[in-house]
Amino acid sequence: MKITFIGAGNMSEAIVAGVIRRGVLAADAITVSDPLEERRVYMEATYGVAAVASNREAVAGATCVVLAVKPQLFEAVWEELREAVSGDTLVLSIMAGIAAHRMEGADGFRVVRVMPNTPSLVGRGAAGIAAGALATEEDLCWAETLMQAVGVSVRVEEDQLHAVTALSGSGPAYLFLLMEAMMGAAVELGLGEEEARLLCVETVGGAADLMADSTCSAATLRERVTSKGGTTAAAIGTFQQQRFEELVGVAMRSAYDRSRELA
Ligand SMILES: NC(=O)c1ccc[n+]([C@@H]2O[C@H](COP(=O)([O-])OP(=O)(O)OC[C@H]3O[C@@H](n4cnc5c(N)ncnc54)[C@H](OP(=O)(O)O)[C@@H]3O)[C@@H](O)[C@H]2O)c1
Repeated sequence: MKITFIGAGNMSEAIVAGVIRRGVLAADAITVSDPLEERRVYMEATYGVAAVASNREAVAGATCVVLAVKPQLFEAVWEELREAVSGDTLVLSIMAGIAAHRMEGADGFRVVRVMPNTPSLVGRGAAGIAAGALATEEDLCWAETLMQAVGVSVRVEEDQLHAVTALSGSGPAYLFLLMEAMMGAAVELGLGEEEARLLCVETVGGAADLMADSTCSAATLRERVTSKGGTTAAAIGTFQQQRFEELVGVAMRSAYDRSRELA
């Protein structure tokens, strides 16, 4: 495998770091391409990968090309690249909202789409992976190997990537909002900011680990910390009176609709 990342931004860096750390690929099998010299110097110095300015040069000899630029740059970048990418190269796109058929085109590229999320930066990513019309089982396995170097992944149909976006793609921001609110309330209730941050971060991370370690549903785990007439019951009762679950559903539907609109 020789892999080329077009765009050496946050997501590419997370995947490059993960695959090298996990021994999936050696640094000399990886090339990144980025217009910013500072970024290229950084990627070379930090990970020992080849870093070039020209996208066309970057894809020469690649068996997999990862498109990792902002979606609004897709057309210009793909126009420049399409002819330089050899026909048997796997095209893996992490760009939100660009349908596989737009990359498959008349050339008939094998395409796999991936929707990652920012916790990939710390090896705790959650990604959805969808095959384009021509992708093989081997292509999907390779995409899984890449994404599992930075977290977990699930296979979905391409149309379900909108739901993945609404859950795990945008999800970290929902939790940051909740944490912001929880920390703010804790400070109002008398805790210091540092203490509130530490307790909040560990509560969210710890609850996620507890659920990951258990076969119980989220509802069961919630019930276990909610004794009748207790403090948790008072808070959960308030959340439910204010229709918290309904609000989450409506918010995620907005993310889903927006994802479809952007596509
Ligand atoms: N971050 C997320 O949570 C997330 C989640 C799911 C999907 N994605 C997708 O992942 C992709 C990358 O996101 P990111 O957060 O890594 O963005 P990013 O940090 O902005 O990375 C994009 C990189 O591409 C470079 N670039 C710009 N024009 C280029 C060109 N013509 N050729 C080659 N490289 C070029 C940019 O350089 P400059 O900075 O110099 O412009 C930048 O280094 C996006 O399509 C996004 O939709 C991101």
